Amino acid sequence: MKKFLIINGPNLNMLGTREPEVYGKETLDDIRKLTAEKLQSNVELEWFQSNIEGEIVTKIQEASLHAFDALIINPGGYAHTSVAIHDALKILKIPVIEVHLSQVYKREEFRHTMLTAKAATAIMGGFGNQTYYIAINSQLQ
Ligand code: DQA
Repeated sequence: MKKFLIINGPNLNMLGTREPEVYGKETLDDIRKLTAEKLQSNVELEWFQSNIEGEIVTKIQEASLHAFDALIINPGGYAHTSVAIHDALKILKIPVIEVHLSQVYKREEFRHTMLTAKAATAIMGGFGNQTYYIAINSQLQ
């Protein structure tokens, strides 16, 4: 069975109440359940969320020690700023899929700087609550 680590960065714990017109009305837990249902327990998923850059860096470092098949990461706002997360992603030897719920290129200019994505194998955005399912499914083909 394939094993995936899903990391979510700052403010993604506020989904459901945070700008629902952009991110939808579902909480991260709702999305976690939806993703598990759609994948029908064919995979093992570990979800991690933190608002703290260093905790995300440590989790990425630890991922290299636990045989994950791929890392799915939504770095939140850190996608646009974090050299530290970028550098941690470069350590990994498994596929890294960077995901965004929203289509960031339709949004403010500052979101068009994609820093961590330079260390990702693939990136995707704009699929809302289907985002994680689509990213994981892409690694099951
Ligand atoms: C986001 C997009 C980022 O620009 C923003 O800072 C987020 C969420 C998304 O999933 O669309 O926190 O990563």
